[in-house]
Amino acid sequence: MKVGVVGTGHVGLVTCASLAAVGHDVVGNDLDEEKVAQLRRGDPWFYEPGLKELLGETMQAGKLRFTSDPGEAMSGAEVVFICVGTPPRASGEANLIAVEHAARNVAKHADRDVVVVEKSTVPAGTAQRVKRTLERERSGAMGHAEVVSNPEFLREGSAIEDSLNPDRILIGAESRAAFDKMRELYAPLIEKGAPVIETDIPTAELAKHACNAFLALKISYVNALARLCEKSGGDVVAVADVMGSDDRIGRSFLNAGLGYGGYCFPKDVQAFESLAARLGSDFPLLGEIARINDQSVDAACEKVVEALWNVEGKKVALLGLAFKPGTDDVRNAPALALARKLLLEGARVVGYDPEGSANAKADCPQLEIAPDAYDAATDAHCVVICTEWAEIKELDLGKLTSAMAYPVIVDGRNLFDPEEMKKAGVSYYPTGRPHISS
Ligand SMILES: NC(=O)c1ccc[n+]([C@@H]2O[C@H](COP(=O)([O-])OP(=O)(O)OC[C@H]3O[C@@H](n4cnc5c(N)ncnc54)[C@H](O)[C@@H]3O)[C@@H](O)[C@H]2O)c1
Repeated sequence: MKVGVVGTGHVGLVTCASLAAVGHDVVGNDLDEEKVAQLRRGDPWFYEPGLKELLGETMQAGKLRFTSDPGEAMSGAEVVFICVGTPPRASGEANLIAVEHAARNVAKHADRDVVVVEKSTVPAGTAQRVKRTLERERSGAMGHAEVVSNPEFLREGSAIEDSLNPDRILIGAESRAAFDKMRELYAPLIEKGAPVIETDIPTAELAKHACNAFLALKISYVNALARLCEKSGGDVVAVADVMGSDDRIGRSFLNAGLGYGGYCFPKDVQAFESLAARLGSDFPLLGEIARINDQSVDAACEKVVEALWNVEGKKVALLGLAFKPGTDDVRNAPALALARKLLLEGARVVGYDPEGSANAKADCPQLEIAPDAYDAATDAHCVVICTEWAEIKELDLGKLTSAMAYPVIVDGRNLFDPEEMKKAGVSYYPTGRPHISS
């Protein structure tokens, strides 16, 4: 099938590569000329495991190319994916201007019957707007246009795997023909066992927000619990294990720490809350998720202050800067929120991340960057574990702490074993577990 993909970011580029890998002829379109130039060289503009290799293979096989010209991407396309960003407005609502822009380009450049797939995360009701835009802006060449909602559930860090072996393919559509077109497109994945869920369009749009808000809720729940554990002498990891042993609850997303970040959860929780408010639906729980999340960074900052007394002029090393392991994405990274707080307190803040250091520096210029974790920790008065990279878990603790000015570790991801910390003589501040003093 000939497929156009508008937006070649974390979702769009992975969509391009995985659809090309299963045999479709894909053209990726982005308005950012620099990104397109880099992609044409087979070089992704962000880090995602396996992406560069898949890009190379599919481009070499002639299945995938990139253009900044929307007309080139739409030409002959039977299916066009909209994968542009949907950032928050100041009000918290999703800003859908890029979605409208993409829809206008389809209306202007499509030259046959086309299924327009809303893959970006958007509030319920957006497909109706896209449909109206297609009708208003259509040029002569576009045939019958149908809008479909097909939300993306990939996770950064395992995006290729998630895209080629999805837990489910959610399709919201209005006609049997549109469902069938999407099933034909995804046939190679469906044949491998990917389940398809068919719904109406508002249900599919709503389901994506409902999933992300619920995952964020689990994280905030366990983080609020962590603070209660700290005050009552309980251990949040053990409590989460007990909770997780109940099938109805599940253990995943019950890891206490610095909270969620990234592009999606913060904006999706806000957008879902704004949607509910706009529709007059009382859903105050959504506001609490974000409030508790912000407190998680505050709590880590308070531990640093508690451990160091005055932080002015002291060196704090942040290990892990990306919002999660396996990515160089630092958008809304808790590590950077913590860095800003510590900088305001007068600390000297030095960070290290296996992939995200350059993006972190661009986002927070006052943050100093170290070439490795040991260098970051040298002469530091405190180390804060911000992202649970395997590389950080495997650090030589003796080497790390012997280079520090004070052997103080604030573990914002409960990455280390408290018993080992005790043996190593570290003053250890985990999250939601008893503090160990050296
Ligand atoms: N990042 C994730 O893990 C993830 C997962 C699921 C869903 N989503 C959703 O997917 C959407 C995209 O997210 P992302 O992380 O890929 O964003 P991104 O910022 O990485 O990529 C968006 C891309 O769209 C391009 N763009 C913007 N307007 C355009 C236009 N009019 N024409 C062509 N290109 C345009 C930008 O230049 C950029 O390259 C969002 O709605 C997001 O919520 C993201």
